[in-house]
Amino acid sequence: MKKSLVVLFALTLCSSFVLAQNKVTVVTLQNTKESPTISKHIYGHFAEHLGRSIYGGFFVGDTSKIPNTNGVRNDIIKALKELQIPNLRWPGGCFADTYHWKDGIGPKEQRPTIVNKWWGGTTEDNSFGTHDFLNLCEALGAEPYLSGNVGSGTVQELADWVQYTNFSGKSPMSDLRQKNGRTAPWKVKFWGIGNEAWGCGGNMTAEYYAGEYRKYATFMSDWENTGGITRIASGSNSADYNWTEVLMKNIPLNMLGGVGVHHYAVIDWNKKGDGVDFTENQYFQTMKSALKMEELVTKHGAIMDKYDPEKKVAIMVDEWGAWYEVEKGTNPGFLYQQNTMRDAVLAGATLNIFNNHADRVRMANLAQCVNVLQAVILTDKAKMIVTPTYHVMKMYSVHQEAKLIPVTFQSPNYTFNGETLPAVSVSASKNNNGTIHISLVNLDTKNKNTIEIAVNELGVKNFTGTILSSAKLQDYNSFDTPNKITTNTFKGFENKNGKLQITIPPFAVVVLEGK
Ligand code: AHR
Repeated sequence: MKKSLVVLFALTLCSSFVLAQNKVTVVTLQNTKESPTISKHIYGHFAEHLGRSIYGGFFVGDTSKIPNTNGVRNDIIKALKELQIPNLRWPGGCFADTYHWKDGIGPKEQRPTIVNKWWGGTTEDNSFGTHDFLNLCEALGAEPYLSGNVGSGTVQELADWVQYTNFSGKSPMSDLRQKNGRTAPWKVKFWGIGNEAWGCGGNMTAEYYAGEYRKYATFMSDWENTGGITRIASGSNSADYNWTEVLMKNIPLNMLGGVGVHHYAVIDWNKKGDGVDFTENQYFQTMKSALKMEELVTKHGAIMDKYDPEKKVAIMVDEWGAWYEVEKGTNPGFLYQQNTMRDAVLAGATLNIFNNHADRVRMANLAQCVNVLQAVILTDKAKMIVTPTYHVMKMYSVHQEAKLIPVTFQSPNYTFNGETLPAVSVSASKNNNGTIHISLVNLDTKNKNTIEIAVNELGVKNFTGTILSSAKLQDYNSFDTPNKITTNTFKGFENKNGKLQITIPPFAVVVLEGK
């Protein structure tokens, strides 16, 4: 009897040792010379005329008591500069295909109004227009990404916009720009030819849109002849692979800089759930929808490979992020939602997917920057706070323009209600100074995860870490507790003879730096 107890004890010990061993996820870094550079534009943002994004968000007007530069809040400019925001997409979204840019130039008091058909039916006065936006981008050191109106605009209108913003010679549009106070052109590089042409952009078929695209692209001249403008096609709705196939087949590659993809992490479009008050099941379903991004960029990329094996045309995921019900008591057309640790985990895992597909994904725009959907900044009158998603974007900014280090590993599962998702998400890069960054996410809500990475061949010895975590998944930064969630020094790792052993707590995001 005693003997069998001892055997049982030994077996139990043995099996828990095996289990403990199994919990270590071995990540292999492939330090190859051929790997692509992670475009900084993967870390792009989006500002639509929607709810309190522009008016009451970015733009308070130059007579406001809130400190501002030409009407744009100084606190937002400062926060976005600290984020090293590489590009900003504007003016939409669905709004773009209703927007007539000439309504937003010249003396503000003479500008016509516009009713925002898509977002709350509000009437706006066009006081934030082309000059305001492009000057803001200059102040931020960010590339502007203008979305042109194809749905309700004309070819001439879009061609004129390009001439207005980009031509330094004498022309009707550059004369008009100068009359409006701006001598040098802004030289806008990124141009979207419509938005969601399959939906709010005109309910077009892929074939019809491909024809429209060719026409618009032809007349959007690169005025300075520098090869400096990138024309971007309105891309598919999530997994509409036929859309990408038709565009790639019908648009000559030399007319196409990028093809968009829009994908929102949503539980169910009819029952999106609250942004803060959510269950583990809702968390799981949000993550499941978000992680679909891996499949989307892989499959859209494979279609593009058939027509463009050299990967000249980029995937531009120009709208991504979580979409919940609007915060209770707010205008349903304004898409205002809070931002919790769920959003931080989602952002970390999605950005790892983009990094790991840097050969084809060369731009992405989080929807949206201020006060809309998965915002990085929220405002309430004079108050401004940054969200957990802001912190993740800032932690990950170290990957901008660094060389991707491809990773291979078998993720452990995060299991809920009999369904599984990969619990661990990783990407890594090496910058021009030889500094290594490894970003890691643990999606599991209950179990910590231990990861082992051999780093002895990377030529770096000293590691430091930063973590974003909080006691509860539902935690968020409010206007009363703006720093509830913020980054902290991470000490949960050891370097054992060139092997890093990292233990990440549940629902946390970590970035390690090796020098
Ligand atoms: O980001 C909000 C909206 O989502 C955009 O206006 C539209 O392009 C998408 O459907």
